[in-house]
Amino acid sequence: MNTVLEAATSYVKEELAGEGSGHDWWHIYRVEQLAITLATEEGADLFICRLAALLHDVADEKLNESEEAGMKKVADWLALHAVDPEQAQHVLSIIQGMSFKGGGGQIMPTLEGKIVQDADRLDALGAVGIARTFQYSGNRGQLIYDPDLPVRVTMTKEEYRNGRSTAINHFYEKLLKLKEHMNTDYGKKLAEERHAYMETFLKTFYAEWDGKK
Ligand code: ADP
Ligand code: NI
Repeated sequence: MNTVLEAATSYVKEELAGEGSGHDWWHIYRVEQLAITLATEEGADLFICRLAALLHDVADEKLNESEEAGMKKVADWLALHAVDPEQAQHVLSIIQGMSFKGGGGQIMPTLEGKIVQDADRLDALGAVGIARTFQYSGNRGQLIYDPDLPVRVTMTKEEYRNGRSTAINHFYEKLLKLKEHMNTDYGKKLAEERHAYMETFLKTFYAEWDGKK
């Protein structure tokens, strides 16, 4: 493997050790694998996609004092590893575009940015997406489902705090909307497959809930 990618892999494993919010090393691993699949299909720069995928959560504000501090950490790492300044700038702009609250929905100007953003979104879908949702929900002490709570497609911070969300509600609030936000053709195709799998899951879930299956 390319030595920069190898070094980035070790660095990220260390940085995210003990990360419990769904952004552990294996999330990064899956996003990198998806980025490779998408970059190959879409004819994008593999090195940029892989490096940005590996580093995409290192600058997250959850792990740093501020967004700026997080970005500086990544910039310093790229400089220390002698990444070509133009490539480093490209990777930084991708991470900047996807890491932050409010920035997560940003339109990515380059194909590589579109790919890494698609890869991150795909990891919230399908069988893995379902698993991550229930893990996150359990971690927050939420119910798996509560038929007495009306489905809410937008939730406020207060509602979260008051326990008015459930794992199942998160599908309506976010997961089922994601396929409309894919950037690339191949990303869209994979999102549609993962979406269909989640629809099947929900159908079976409700049938079981009412003892019909
Ligand atoms: P990102 O990887 O884009 O930063 P988030 O931090 O929003 O995504 O979420 C990480 C994982 O946790 C995702 O798989 C997501 O579905 C799940 N998750 C986020 N918010 C909730 C929630 N309110 N209820 C259940 N799962 C959630
Ligand atoms: Ni991510």
